[in-house]
Amino acid sequence: MKVALLGGTGAVGQRFVSMLSGHPWFDLTVITGKTSVGRRYGDLKWILEGEVPEEFRDLVIAENSIESLRGVDLVFSALPSREAREFERELMKRGIPLVSNASALRMDPLVPLVIPEVNPDHLSLIERQVELGIGPAATDPNCTTTVMTLPLKPLHEAYTLKRLNVASYQALSGAGYPGVPSYDAIDNVIPFIPGEEEKVQNESRKILGAIERGEIRMADFEVQATCVRVPVLDGHTVAIHAEFEEEVDPEEAANLLEGFRSEPQELELPTAPEQPIHVRTEPDRPQPRYDRNEEGGMSVVVGRIRRGSNRRSLLLTVVGHNTIRGAAGQAILLAELMRAKKLI
Ligand SMILES: NC(=O)c1ccc[n+]([C@@H]2O[C@H](COP(=O)([O-])OP(=O)(O)OC[C@H]3O[C@@H](n4cnc5c(N)ncnc54)[C@H](OP(=O)(O)O)[C@@H]3O)[C@@H](O)[C@H]2O)c1
Repeated sequence: MKVALLGGTGAVGQRFVSMLSGHPWFDLTVITGKTSVGRRYGDLKWILEGEVPEEFRDLVIAENSIESLRGVDLVFSALPSREAREFERELMKRGIPLVSNASALRMDPLVPLVIPEVNPDHLSLIERQVELGIGPAATDPNCTTTVMTLPLKPLHEAYTLKRLNVASYQALSGAGYPGVPSYDAIDNVIPFIPGEEEKVQNESRKILGAIERGEIRMADFEVQATCVRVPVLDGHTVAIHAEFEEEVDPEEAANLLEGFRSEPQELELPTAPEQPIHVRTEPDRPQPRYDRNEEGGMSVVVGRIRRGSNRRSLLLTVVGHNTIRGAAGQAILLAELMRAKKLI
């Protein structure tokens, strides 16, 4: 499939470019931008490890317009949300297949918000889009929501989640490039990330919600979140305190997490990790520096699994790569899942 990437020069855009290099199904032919329009991709500042993939060096950044997308079979979006709002709606209206990382469409009742291992069934919303003559469009969640919700899935399947208290320690790359000024970031912890806590609270309940009569019923557990920016380059850490209706055994919970597999693994999708959740038993893991690149950054790593203040409460810490599992890698995996289900 010929694919386009909107906003392809930023922190997430570059991850897409790196992960689409040599992809067996997706051929990246168009990259759009704003300030970089007309420039060669290879001449822009590359903020990832290694070099700009050879095959994209001569690609010239296109304007973000419908015109630029002619002949393209699928569009990935890494646009800033404000820029995505109107343009992504326009793509939906025109029936141009879209998989977006931006928050603009995430809470739209007609648009599936999907972590491929967690709620692949939500892609059935695309049938409703087709009936209405729009889409197909799907979104993947905010990076912190992804890292946190992936391990909650097997737990919420085995027990009933009642209340969540979470605190996130979020990497600088989560704010894009150049992102947080160094003067604010170094030697510091910033206890507020605009819009982040609301995203974590709403998106997790949509993802773990159920499809009923063609609509999503939000999961009815409570979520309280505190989101904090810390001087880590990549990798979000989330400390989770989960309360369930039933008693939870930490050892059993660890086994559920370690053994969790889902559709992307069964289908052996090209970007799927073999094991989406890895469990560490050392008392001082997971840590972003050591654990963010597990299975190429597509797995999250959970540790410190222990009982909380009563038998129904569980504490755990999870680390995941925000621009890979939390953004570009996950969007590519989602598109692979949609392709495997013949939705695009
Ligand atoms: N960073 C993360 O960890 C993360 C995780 C999950 C989701 N997201 C979401 O992913 C999106 C991108 O985030 P980011 O961190 O990559 O931001 P970023 O580093 O600030 O990059 C923004 C990109 O958008 C482009 N852009 C801005 N306005 C545009 C327009 N009107 N038309 C086309 N391109 C435009 C910029 O192009 P020029 O360089 O040409 O100006 C640049 O490539 C956001 O919606 C963000 O919320 C980010």
